Amino acid sequence: MIELRHVEKAFANGTPLKDVNVTINDGDVISVIGPSGTGKSTLLRCINMLGAPTKGQIFVDGEEITAKGYDIRKVRRKMGMVFQSFNLFGHLNVIENIMVPPMDLLGISAQEAYDTGMKLLADVGLATKALSRPEELSGGQKQRVAIARTLAMNPSIILFDEPTSALDPTMVGEVQSVIRELAKSGKTMMIVTHEMKFAREICNRVFYMDEGGVYEDGTPDQIFNHPQRDNTRRFINRLKVMHEAINSKDFDFLGLYTRLNEYVYKSQIDAKPAYHIHQAIEELCQQIILPALPENPLIDLVLEHAEESDTVLTLRYNGKPFDPKDTDNQISYKIVTSVSNEVRYRIRENDELHNVISLTIS
Ligand SMILES: Nc1ncnc2c1ncn2[C@@H]1O[C@H](COP(=O)(O)OP(=O)(O)O)[C@@H](O)[C@H]1O
Ligand SMILES: [Mg+2]
Repeated sequence: MIELRHVEKAFANGTPLKDVNVTINDGDVISVIGPSGTGKSTLLRCINMLGAPTKGQIFVDGEEITAKGYDIRKVRRKMGMVFQSFNLFGHLNVIENIMVPPMDLLGISAQEAYDTGMKLLADVGLATKALSRPEELSGGQKQRVAIARTLAMNPSIILFDEPTSALDPTMVGEVQSVIRELAKSGKTMMIVTHEMKFAREICNRVFYMDEGGVYEDGTPDQIFNHPQRDNTRRFINRLKVMHEAINSKDFDFLGLYTRLNEYVYKSQIDAKPAYHIHQAIEELCQQIILPALPENPLIDLVLEHAEESDTVLTLRYNGKPFDPKDTDNQISYKIVTSVSNEVRYRIRENDELHNVISLTIS
């Protein structure tokens, strides 16, 4: 069990943690989410004493690790940390990277460190890379080695600070799978992440960080579906919405598609619906509506994605009442209806953008 009592961490330029009071139970898997700069990394660094709190106390299994003179090596044996940037030793090969910490800190023999290391490498799917150098590995492989190295210390607590955010999108999955397996092992884990779908599926508890501490603490269902406090609600809802204003006949749609790709990636929308969304925007917005609008066109595009349900694309636009199904461009319209489950057009009185069309896409 980890207990934080009135923990404060102040730097010369600010105090990211003001008064943190939380208890982490054995076996808890906690996703730590929140806007950047709210002290997520600082919290993990306090818990493993990489950066001691400036006030307050931290207890691990009843012992105060913040006490003067407490042997920090005891913390290192209990807790492992996995960083965004892997931090492998460049001058050592993969198996050496994994063998060194337990030999140094636990005093185990080279043979035992080697045997454990090879087993762990097999667990993360990298048995054949034991003799490779870190620079020969992809980012995803490096991070899996870093996880194996952490596990070699057999810690009961593992802290992950954005373990996939430095990776190429194609490698996020392999690292997430390793962490997902680990989450079932009964170890206590805290994971700072921006991957909301992942955060949600692996944890039993979520810390939303804001305003100097753990602003809201709850189950994934509470935090993601029924957030109680204003900032949490705003953060969760913003994640699910993409908003664009298309205000010119030669609007930069390529830029929009780039932002769409980022949104799709962040919201973890699958490839097929993502492709359908792209097609719906291209055909409906670019080919049908924009050409039909006056010289000062304005289309307000909102894409809302909620997990476990369809994505909704809503376009509000100016000009005369115009139902896209009456377009001359029936080929484009056919594509629109073929990629969406439902198309609804209506006119909203007393609104400059009185044409409203919404599509549900899955
Ligand atoms: N070593 C440091 N020295 C000074 N300021 C720091 C240091 N580490 C973090 N901070 C500041 O503390 C705040 C929280 O940082 P951080 O914990 O990294 O946030 P997050 O991980 O949530 O993005 C930021 O304003 C950051 O600039
Ligand atoms: Mg951080």
